[in-house]
Amino acid sequence: MTAAPRPARFVSFEGLDGAGKSTHIARVTELFRAHGYDVVSTREPGGTPLGESLRAILLHEPMSPATEALLMFAARSEHLDLVIKPALTRGAAVVSDRFTDASFAYQGGGRGLSDDRLSILENWVHEGLQPDLTLLFDLPFEVARTRLAGVRKPDRFEQEAEEFHNRVRAAYLRRAEKSGGRIKIIDAAQPLAEISKTVEHLVLVNCLK
Ligand code: TYD
Repeated sequence: MTAAPRPARFVSFEGLDGAGKSTHIARVTELFRAHGYDVVSTREPGGTPLGESLRAILLHEPMSPATEALLMFAARSEHLDLVIKPALTRGAAVVSDRFTDASFAYQGGGRGLSDDRLSILENWVHEGLQPDLTLLFDLPFEVARTRLAGVRKPDRFEQEAEEFHNRVRAAYLRRAEKSGGRIKIIDAAQPLAEISKTVEHLVLVNCLK
């Protein structure tokens, strides 16, 4: 008798710029592979040819907050249709560096767009789909900024003042509280080994049991 196929999984990673998501995204990708999954590792904004073109505009061209939100969701719509939904349909694990929680944090908390307006876009574009698990790498802005310092030329979001990033962080935490357990908060100021242990445990318990 062959084992029952594992269910498709969708995991997203969130947090302030400089929170240190990348190392853990690579490890989670490997963890799913080790459990026999076909893994699609992707990112937002981006993940498709059009999405990557929109990313270049979003990270570098000045624009209004509403335009920013609409372009984020336009890129997301393309990403869902071309990459995420087909991968989930064939039973893959999708690991995404950011998803819609980032829009509520950056365009909502950071830029001041209301949750009600963003929810309209979310409902329209997602059609009910949500990640199975979201790992929120939470840490104070001072720590994130030190990690980012000198890495490369800062983009439009990274150039924002401390207050912007404090609002982004607070919006992420509010969204986690209202997520019904989907968003797990990880203390990203801990040593790397501790964070890795927590991340692995959360993925095992929530996605690979
Ligand atoms: P990220 O890929 O984390 O940047 P990096 O290449 O520096 O690791 O994210 C790019 C930026 O886009 C980040 O500052 C957050 C922002 N962003 C939003 O403002 N809204 C969104 O919906 C998404 C997905 C990202």
